[in-house]
Amino acid sequence: MSQVIRPRRLRTHSRLREMVAVSRLAASDFIAPLFVRAGKNIRQPISSMPGVFQLSVDAAVEELKHLESLGVGAYILFGVTEPSKKDAVGSYAHDADNEVCRTLKATKDAGVTMLAITDLCYCEYTSHGHCGPLKLGGGVVDNDVTVEQLGRQAVLHARCGADMVAPSGMMDNMIAGIREALDQEGKLDTAIMSYAVKYASSFYGPFREAAESPPQFGDRKTYQMDFRGSTKEALKEAAIDVAQGADLIIVKPGTAYLDVLRAVTEAVDVPTAVYHVSGEYAMIKAAGTNGWIDEKAVVFETMHAFKRAGASAILTYYAGQLAQWLK
Ligand code: PBG
Repeated sequence: MSQVIRPRRLRTHSRLREMVAVSRLAASDFIAPLFVRAGKNIRQPISSMPGVFQLSVDAAVEELKHLESLGVGAYILFGVTEPSKKDAVGSYAHDADNEVCRTLKATKDAGVTMLAITDLCYCEYTSHGHCGPLKLGGGVVDNDVTVEQLGRQAVLHARCGADMVAPSGMMDNMIAGIREALDQEGKLDTAIMSYAVKYASSFYGPFREAAESPPQFGDRKTYQMDFRGSTKEALKEAAIDVAQGADLIIVKPGTAYLDVLRAVTEAVDVPTAVYHVSGEYAMIKAAGTNGWIDEKAVVFETMHAFKRAGASAILTYYAGQLAQWLK
């Protein structure tokens, strides 16, 4: 019998492999997370995320000019709040002089035109480190009070120049609350990228050092999803947020949740983004630095997996590095 089917034929020539490749990466796919803190001329290393820094506002502006020159699509800001400015409800989030607001304004003033996104949450501003004010006596985040506050935070960020807000607290009905608040303010074009499908994950460990935002007691399991759950729960979360006006849906974390990313991408009629989170970054960085894996090759393989699974955008601490590699 002659063997006519030989899949290896398509792999014989590098140009042919390139031609039939489906997944493509561009610098414009990437969203670079930045941690902004008080002070001047500060680039404070984050020990569990080598190559990532807490930046003072002036240093963040310089970093963003650099990322823009590399063609990175967007940035997303996280505030690092001094302990003395934190309180039970996260008031500092509503201060127009906080680091996130000042970075937005300074970056626009510096002529940077990258898409400006802000993370909307309270864990970076509350003394207890939970993602919103707590119910009296209960130690549980008060959903509806948090949603109301999120609307205020969104409006503030939009006024300061955010093109898009990304609520990450997994509160029920947060998109409806934020959309209504933005629209009442006339911010009809401020987009919402919802962390609609976010699991209670140990891969967030290094982020909590970076943002100085670990919960002071308990965990986030009463609002973030249980990874043992059915994919249907992810589809439901995504559908609710799309119905409430989410313009993009984030699945988070990435590598261990490719099945969810694929399912959500197929189910919704808006683009999906995936968050390659701090722990995923740290693992590749550590193994790469030790010479145990080829860092660059593993990063590309991971990013292509996200694209193959359906992601349009990728939030990753490798954004700048990837843009450089792609040049
Ligand atoms: C805030 C938030 C977290 C991350 C993004 N936004 C931490 C958390 O939910 O505990 C994690 C990002 C990362 O690990 O890179 N709610």
